[in-house]
Amino acid sequence: MEKIRVENVSYSYQNQYQKIEAVKEVSCSFEDGNMYAITGESGSGKSTFLSLLAGLDRPESGTILVEGENLLEMDRDAYRRKQISVVYQAFHLFPLLNAVENVMYPMELQGISRREARKQAEDCLREVGLGEKIFHQYPKMMSGGEQQRVAIARAMAAQGRILLADEPTGNLDSENEENIVELLKGLAHERDYLVIVVTHNPEVARQADVCLKMKDGRMV
Ligand SMILES: Nc1ncnc2c1ncn2[C@@H]1O[C@H](COP(=O)(O)OP(=O)(O)OP(=O)(O)O)[C@@H](O)[C@H]1O
Ligand SMILES: [Mg+2]
Repeated sequence: MEKIRVENVSYSYQNQYQKIEAVKEVSCSFEDGNMYAITGESGSGKSTFLSLLAGLDRPESGTILVEGENLLEMDRDAYRRKQISVVYQAFHLFPLLNAVENVMYPMELQGISRREARKQAEDCLREVGLGEKIFHQYPKMMSGGEQQRVAIARAMAAQGRILLADEPTGNLDSENEENIVELLKGLAHERDYLVIVVTHNPEVARQADVCLKMKDGRMV
């Protein structure tokens, strides 16, 4: 099913000196149950495009429809809480929360009780292959691969079924990279997530169901 439709979307950054057109008239659509890769040179607009999809920035023109509803007309905080999770290269875990608490966080935002959140968080962590050993560890004591798994578990704990990832394997060795890609693909194929991965890595792109490329702000 079509989950996200992007119609003629543009975005530019404006500073004192110049206007940078980071995304130019992009149109495309994304279906759930698939993993998409977005590749392209550095500066081609990939991260900007992802932040538009995440509702973190507003398109300057054009529309983004999520399940047929205009993103701009939705309550954006609700959209972000409910629909979309973003995983970044640098993991972005909360340093003062342990693994379980990191995963509990989005559920607590949704008003789920601490007890239930803890239970689900532990389930999500097990699902990404992390055992009890890691549950009470803080991010700085975890390896990069472990941190990225916690970040994915946290994304799974958020209720949404759209997962955006910006260079999720950028800091990982090839074995961990493979595991993370398998995990993301599994979410798409077995649990019907829409997964969109921005990557410089040809191996990650090869694993995707659909590979898109950006060049100078355009989808080519
Ligand atoms: N906050 C910002 N202010 C001004 N210009 C920006 C900002 N963020 C990005 N840009 C510019 O917008 C363009 C697209 O940047 P973007 O980060 O989307 O590229 P990218 O494809 O993700 O690159 P990379 O592969 O290096 O992460 C670049 O020219 C960049 O310099
Ligand atoms: Mg980027």
